[in-house]
Amino acid sequence: MSTYSEDKRAVTTHRLWEMKQRGEKITMLTAYDYSMAKIIDEAGIDCILVGDSASNTMVGNKTTLPMTLDQMIYHARSVVNGVQRALVVVDMPFGTCSGNPIKSLEAAVRIMKETGADALKIEGGKEIQEDVKKIIDAGIPVMSHLGLMPQSINKYGTYTVRAKDEKEAQKLIDDCLLMEKIGCFAIVLEKIPASLATDVSKKVSVPIIGIGAGGGVDGQVLVIHDMMGINKDFSPKFLRRYADLHTIMTEATQNYIKDVKDSNFPNESESY
Ligand code: KIV
Repeated sequence: MSTYSEDKRAVTTHRLWEMKQRGEKITMLTAYDYSMAKIIDEAGIDCILVGDSASNTMVGNKTTLPMTLDQMIYHARSVVNGVQRALVVVDMPFGTCSGNPIKSLEAAVRIMKETGADALKIEGGKEIQEDVKKIIDAGIPVMSHLGLMPQSINKYGTYTVRAKDEKEAQKLIDDCLLMEKIGCFAIVLEKIPASLATDVSKKVSVPIIGIGAGGGVDGQVLVIHDMMGINKDFSPKFLRRYADLHTIMTEATQNYIKDVKDSNFPNESESY
């Protein structure tokens, strides 16, 4: 059964734009290492996000804030090594794009040069427009990230749904229009009302990729550890689990422990 595009060409920012124009939904998942990236690329995913959610999934931190530029580069390089077709997008970590365009561009160039990734994702709107513009002007494709911005958790104080009131919803619309105007090729909208996300998706020509933003947008992104059921501690309403790898891996580990303890592994055919 084919559930994805038969097109085997490498995914580009322009092809994502074409997908939006013809109404084909865009698929995106996170990955942080070579093996996982290779599996989801071969399965036909359109975009792979080397998210700073690596801070939670790979390191066990409570927030995304501790992630450094060097750590993001390490993960991104590993992912790029496993990918043939998908567009690889890398998060600019907290503090690397916040009101100093020259410094932001330096960090952006390091990621692109040292990883071979295709594009960057940057959290924030109007406040960092000069940084985003500088990076795009240097020829680096940027995906904007608005709505719930995990790097601003200390400002919000909560991971609850954003833009529920009119003022914040209007700012979100204005920020989306601005990010489109300065040249972002796509926008991630995280945890906002579905009706607002649908409305934004109709207002801008660039693809809107949602996470907790309903089905009226142009594509979806999920954190791979959540959707594969590796991480069972995080169950927001928007999450659908497609596998229960936690149980599969626990049982496999227990079977291995038993076999070794019982001197049942390795057997003769597994020995030289
Ligand atoms: O870091 C990340 O994984 C993200 C997604 C939640 C969109 O930004």
